[in-house]
Amino acid sequence: MTRLKKLISYLYPIRVKQIPSSRSGQLEITMVNGKLLIDAEHVNYSYGNLQKALKKGLTAIGETKLNSFKNILVLGVAGGSVIETIRRDFKLHIPITGVEIDADVIGLANEYFNLDKAQNLDLKIDDAFDYISNTKDTFDLIIVDIFNDEQMPDNLFNKVFWVDIYKTLNSNGVCLFNSIVSSNREIERNQQLHKLNKGIFKSIQRIKTQKINELFILERD
Ligand SMILES: C[S@@+](CC[C@H](N)C(=O)[O-])C[C@H]1O[C@@H](n2cnc3c(N)ncnc32)[C@H](O)[C@@H]1O
Repeated sequence: MTRLKKLISYLYPIRVKQIPSSRSGQLEITMVNGKLLIDAEHVNYSYGNLQKALKKGLTAIGETKLNSFKNILVLGVAGGSVIETIRRDFKLHIPITGVEIDADVIGLANEYFNLDKAQNLDLKIDDAFDYISNTKDTFDLIIVDIFNDEQMPDNLFNKVFWVDIYKTLNSNGVCLFNSIVSSNREIERNQQLHKLNKGIFKSIQRIKTQKINELFILERD
């Protein structure tokens, strides 16, 4: 990327690469304000505003709690921007397991964001729903950030998934869940999810972030 292109990216986004994706329609590497990000067809997928939204969630969990964690699971990795935030901004160098279904997005992550050089990262190309129902490992923090373009799979709103998350968390562990609320139907869907999870988790905090994201912070007993 030349210096001139970088400068131009402060005026308008520059498309760097576009590939077809069977899961997300298409994936695009774009430069905005001198920085690369990944977009799916209709939403920002990794880095950019998505990274800022998840950072807000981690900040709300708080440094004291974060510093007590011994390991992390990330369901939905894409370019790995939350992993960068955990390492760079929160200085947490504990083991991270990542589960991502789309090998194409991981190809972009490796090429443009050096995800394959990330330290202490165990990356699995797998379906997060299969992984969470089968794993015997447990974690202090689970980040759930699963989208197919702008669609959230229905499984994310089923009780069986949240019971699996509960079982995969260590005692006093935390789940950070990223959701989209851009319609009345989605507002109602999140209300139902809140109700469901009140019966499972010790505490629930909800945070609206920029534009259309709503984060849930769910703490286990
Ligand atoms: C918003 S992106 C994740 C961004 C990432 N957390 C970050 O910090 O940059 C959503 C990701 O969920 C992945 N995904 C969708 N369905 C999945 C599934 N069933 N299992 C694992 N990953 C899935 C998509 O391929 C996409 O890469």
